[in-house]
Amino acid sequence: MGKNILLGITGGIAAYKTAAAASALTKLGHNVLTVMTESACEFITPMTLQSLTGNPVEVEMFSPPERFEVKHISLADRADVTLVAPATGNFIGKLAGGIADDLLSTIIMATRSKVLIAPAMNVNMYQDASLQENLAILEERGYQIIEPESGYLACGYEGSGRMPEAETLVKRVQEHLAVKDLSRFKILITAGPTREPLDPVRFFSNYSSGRMGYALAERAAVRGAEVTLISGPTALDPPPGVRLIGVEQAREMKEIVMEELAGKDAIIMAAAVADYRPADYQEEKIKKQEQELNQVALKENPDILSAVRENKTEEQVLVGFAAESGRILERGRDKFRSKAPDMLVVNDISRSDRGFAAETNAGYILTGDKELELSLRSKIKFAEAVLDEIKELAFQAGG
Ligand code: PMT
Repeated sequence: MGKNILLGITGGIAAYKTAAAASALTKLGHNVLTVMTESACEFITPMTLQSLTGNPVEVEMFSPPERFEVKHISLADRADVTLVAPATGNFIGKLAGGIADDLLSTIIMATRSKVLIAPAMNVNMYQDASLQENLAILEERGYQIIEPESGYLACGYEGSGRMPEAETLVKRVQEHLAVKDLSRFKILITAGPTREPLDPVRFFSNYSSGRMGYALAERAAVRGAEVTLISGPTALDPPPGVRLIGVEQAREMKEIVMEELAGKDAIIMAAAVADYRPADYQEEKIKKQEQELNQVALKENPDILSAVRENKTEEQVLVGFAAESGRILERGRDKFRSKAPDMLVVNDISRSDRGFAAETNAGYILTGDKELELSLRSKIKFAEAVLDEIKELAFQAGG
C-alpha cells in the first residue's frame, strides 16, 4: 500500500534527479508531498513536481489566511519517511545547528519520521571539515545519509559530491518502508565465483557475477535479517547493512562458511563454486612453450554444501542453488535428492536472460513437499520469492 513520502528539495542542480525520483515513487503508488526551498525553485519549478506527483507543492512558510493551517506540523505528521535531495551544505548546516527558518527546515525539526539526507555539492565543499562535522552530528541523531558518489560534478570538478541517480534514491526510500518480516533471522549467503589459481597470473573460474547472491543479501537485509555475505571476486558493492567477507578459492570459502555457520537460521549457497582446481600451483609464471600445453592436472574441490549439511542443526535451513544447462527440472530433482539440502533453487545457465550474469532469473524452487515455478523476473524479485519460501521452511522447522 502506498505511503506518504515527504520530499524536501533544496537549491542544487541535482534537483533534476529528484524530479525523476518523485515520478518513480509516485508510479510505485506512494503519495509524494513535495516541499521546496526558495533556492530550489531557481533550479526546478514547483509546477514540475506538482505535475509529476499530482500533489500541490509547498514553498512558503506562511500561506494566505484563507488557506491557513499549521502546515509544517500537518506535513511533518503525515510523513512515513522524509527524503531531502539534494541537500546543500547550507541546509545540512541549518539542520545540524537546530535552525528552522523556512518551511522545510521547520518540518524536519517537527517530524518523527525517518529522515534521509542526500548531500550534493562541489567536492571541496563536501570535504570541508564543518560539512563533515555537520553530517556526523546528523548521523548521530539518527538521520540517514545517502553517500554522494564520485565523478564529474556540475561545477567542472571531479570527485565526491555527486548525488546518486534517482534509482538509488528510490531504493533507499523503499528500504525504509519495507516490512521487516525477517528481523529475527540470521542468514549466511555465498555469492559469486571462486578463483582457482594455476600460476601467479592465471586462474580457473566461471561467469558468475555475484548478482543473484547479492540480490538475496540486499533483500534479506532490507527485510530486517542480519546478513553475512561470503563472496568470491565480483564487481559489485556490498548491499547496505550487510557484513561482507571476501574470499577467492573454494577451500577458503569452505573454511569461512564453516566458521560462520553457528547461530545462523538459514544458509543460502548461491555461489558458483569451482568443482576442480589445478592440482599443482606453479610458483613461477608458466612460460610460453614451443609445444602445446596439454597437461593441467585438476584436483576435486571440497563440496561446501555437503559439509554444511553434515554439520548443521535440524532447525537451520540449508538452501542450495543448481546451475543447469538443459532438462533443468529433471536434473534439479536429481540434485535435490543427491545433495539433500532443505531447498534447492534450480536455474538455467544456457540462456542470456537468466542464470550467469543476467539481471533477471527464472527457475524452480524445490523442497521436500513443493515444486514452485518462478517465471522470468528481476533477480531482486527472484530473491524475494526465495526468501519467502525460506521463511516458511524456517517456520516449519521451528526457527
Ligand atoms: O552470480 P550470478 O551471475 O548472478 O549467477 C547466479 C548463479 C547462476 C551463479 C546462481 O544462481 C547459481 O545457480 N549458483 C549455483 C551455481 C553452482 O555452483 O551450481 P552447482 O549445480 O554446480 O552446485 C550446486 C550447489 O552446490 C550450489 O549451491 C553450490 O554453491 C554448491 N557447491 C558446488 C560445488 C562445490 N564444490 N561446493 C558447493 O558447495
